[in-house]
Amino acid sequence: MTTVDVFGKVHLGYVVVETEKFADWRRFGRDAIGMHLDESVPDVIRFRLDDNACRFLLHRGPAEDTTALGWELDDHATFDTIEARIRGRGVPVTAGSAEDAAVRGVERIARFPGPNGLTQEIYVNPTAGREPLRLAAAGGFVTGADGLGHVAVATKKPHQMRGYYSTVFDARLSDYIDETINGVKFKIRFLRVNERHHTVAIAAVKHLPLNPIRTRIQHCNVQVAELDDLTAAYQRVKALGFEMALSIGQHTNDKELSFYAVSPSGFEWELGWNPIVVDETTWEPTTHQGISIWGHTPEGQAIVEIFERFKTGAQSMLHREDTVPALAGAGVADD
Ligand SMILES: [Fe+2]
Repeated sequence: MTTVDVFGKVHLGYVVVETEKFADWRRFGRDAIGMHLDESVPDVIRFRLDDNACRFLLHRGPAEDTTALGWELDDHATFDTIEARIRGRGVPVTAGSAEDAAVRGVERIARFPGPNGLTQEIYVNPTAGREPLRLAAAGGFVTGADGLGHVAVATKKPHQMRGYYSTVFDARLSDYIDETINGVKFKIRFLRVNERHHTVAIAAVKHLPLNPIRTRIQHCNVQVAELDDLTAAYQRVKALGFEMALSIGQHTNDKELSFYAVSPSGFEWELGWNPIVVDETTWEPTTHQGISIWGHTPEGQAIVEIFERFKTGAQSMLHREDTVPALAGAGVADD
């Protein structure tokens, strides 16, 4: 078993979504959020945030959900290390085809199972998009070493999920947030794989095997460089008639200013600005009370949806959630 630490060499690179709602996603991704829309490949939509050819890959299909996360690795040695870890624990790793790599704009791709049904893909060497970058968010998005942003996942098995990301990517705990929503207590664990405060947030109802979220991710987050672009995107989301889940507010832990819109596939989309980054020499994990210092108040249909979620949550108690136990270690029991 390898003892190499891959922390810092792993970056969230792209997100794969299955949807039938291409027309809505065009308007949402390009016109509201302000990303570069690329339809040069038949039957898929790709969005760019930067030079990389693909940051969001949308395939046609009925799931209306995120189906895979793509992880950019700094070098082939890191790829080999992670692949060996997974195979070493008896979990199959499948090489991606040349076509898979081409549509994602990457070199050398492999995939393996992840918790909560979210397939994980690893790759090296992203290729640049061919066309000049066209963004409505004129100041651009913050990516680079910090990756494209973050995802938040709801789970019935938070200790195993944390164990999984620690085992596979050497993820570190940044902090916890305890939050009560409509009388239900949640604990959220924030994990980082590089200087971005968190790349995976793991939300769980405390002491109850219940997952109120239908989709494999509860939200994804991308970060604009300029505050003006956050404000303009907020206005575009409203003007184009997309639903706002949470109005603008500021998070307690990473201090990011953000809003949450509802994407055409139903999971939420957080657009943020100016989160802190972690200094490894001084950082100490803490527990924050509540997700927001101010704002992030529910808008629109949110109340109706909260009741819908309780229905989903009750149904979720009957379903088995795959934790990929071979990669979850003993789990991380932290409460
Ligand atoms: Fe977030």
